[in-house]
Amino acid sequence: MSAADVAPKVAGNPAEPGADPLWYKDAVIYELHARAFHDSNGDGIGDFPGLLQNLDYVQDLGVTAIWLLPFYPSPLKDDGYDISDYTGINPSYGDLDDFKKLLEQAHRRNLRVITELVINHTSDQHPWFQESRSSRTNPRRDWYVWSDSDDRYRGVRIIFKDTELSNWAWDPISKAYYWHRFFSHQPDLNYDNPAVREEIWKILKFWADMGVDGFRVDAVPYLVEREGTSCENLPETHDVVKFLRRRLDEYYPHIFLLAEANQWPVDVRPYFGNGDEFHMAFHFPLMPRMFMAVKLEDRKPIIDILQQTPDIPENCQWGIFLRNHDELTLEMVSDVERDYMYDMYAFDVGARLNLGIRRRLAPLMEGDRRRLELMNGMLMSLPGSPVLYYGDEIGMGDNIFLGDRNGVRTPMQWSGGWNAGFSTADPERLYLPLLSNPVYGYQTVNVEAQRRTDHSLLSWMKRLIRVRKSSRAFSRGTIEFLQPRNHRVFAYIRQLGHERVLVVNNLSSLAQPVELDLGAFEGYIPIEMFGGNPFPRIGRLPYLLTLAPYNFYWFRLRRL
Ligand code: NOJ
Ligand code: CA
Repeated sequence: MSAADVAPKVAGNPAEPGADPLWYKDAVIYELHARAFHDSNGDGIGDFPGLLQNLDYVQDLGVTAIWLLPFYPSPLKDDGYDISDYTGINPSYGDLDDFKKLLEQAHRRNLRVITELVINHTSDQHPWFQESRSSRTNPRRDWYVWSDSDDRYRGVRIIFKDTELSNWAWDPISKAYYWHRFFSHQPDLNYDNPAVREEIWKILKFWADMGVDGFRVDAVPYLVEREGTSCENLPETHDVVKFLRRRLDEYYPHIFLLAEANQWPVDVRPYFGNGDEFHMAFHFPLMPRMFMAVKLEDRKPIIDILQQTPDIPENCQWGIFLRNHDELTLEMVSDVERDYMYDMYAFDVGARLNLGIRRRLAPLMEGDRRRLELMNGMLMSLPGSPVLYYGDEIGMGDNIFLGDRNGVRTPMQWSGGWNAGFSTADPERLYLPLLSNPVYGYQTVNVEAQRRTDHSLLSWMKRLIRVRKSSRAFSRGTIEFLQPRNHRVFAYIRQLGHERVLVVNNLSSLAQPVELDLGAFEGYIPIEMFGGNPFPRIGRLPYLLTLAPYNFYWFRLRRL
């Protein structure tokens, strides 16, 4: 009998009766690529069986959901965001049975599984595009966006600006131009064609039937194009989203949708609709401002962007993050802010890519444990569901010499042994080389070493996640900013009903005193949440705290 046969019904599975349909509001999401996690068959490429072997590790971290990067058949010219078959598995990673096992085993551990829905474009190798380009009269011709000239939709920005010169590419076969917002090997689908929407719905259905819990929808703002516009966030794009959500609500109401819409808060807000579009959307502009705040040693950038962030419907949530598999995007900052970020975090121009910085969190923080803790502490205490990028929990480094974004996609570092415990292959065969420099190399930074001590970053991250999950004020509460005179201190109160948490962050490299106006909580006792120690009772006078460099506190406010 296999383990799956004896698997208990999944208590936390949203498909099960009694499960909380709003589970995503309390989620802590772990983003990973099967390719990068663990190689089970020694071919140098991570795979689903390898991931399965390490699910206990993911569970043990304390996260509640896994976001899997694209695992579909693909020419892999954009690490799988160039899909050539939407309902298959790239054979390098396994097959559908492996994927089903993964779902089962994840659900057994109360881990939700979120997969990628890359529907703005396909690979040019997808049979739909092959048909579409084969002749101007092919029935699938109209599935993509064709033009006889390359001067339509003028002025639309180019996203991969280090690679592409135009959003149009010439197709020598059918002698016409096709539209692409990303690489030229990724032609955009034509959402004005109802047949395309129906086909996309079939893909959703396919994975929903298999049991996935949610979809991260790639490149949402660009679904529809209209002359004279930026071709982003158009009402017609919202119609497509509403169509998919309506269908989901009808057939799979437990499935959740997460929007990748790298836009300003006012432009992202409509993607929540009236609670009838996305359940969650990434908050892109918040991320660079957290990096700015620790460099400037000033809370202003974070407070400013959060104050510009509109309220969202009750059943919705933000997804917040520090790093992911892409460059640290600087699209949602002003030119001055971008220059500042480049100067501070990517002085080496090799670290810059498109409008961003291709580095991981630990090198960005110069390996400074105090800053890593502070950044993660803010990630876990600001409004939204935090998303962690694999490897950042152990402070993995990057390799800016690998081209494109590969430098932040190197193999997971499990141990100091052969190939970091990632693979038994010859090192030359690995899909990407391991990091082996003295600071971030796998001999130094690896899971095995960090498991041995309670003081490692990994152990600390587990504690952080556990404490975060101990109060729903973090995931569902309101936020109120305190305005102490010392602007190097960033303090806020998260509140849900009677539950109140006070967060105090020292953004500075020097020790700081702060006087907090906590008059509204006179008589309360702050209980430090990591150690459980009571602090002096709050009185009428300003509450005095002293903070070590980059230090932060989380206090539960108790009326005792
Ligand atoms: C956003 C993804 O995060 C990125 O990795 C990809 O290259 C583009 N969308 C195009 O699909
Ligand atoms: Ca493999």
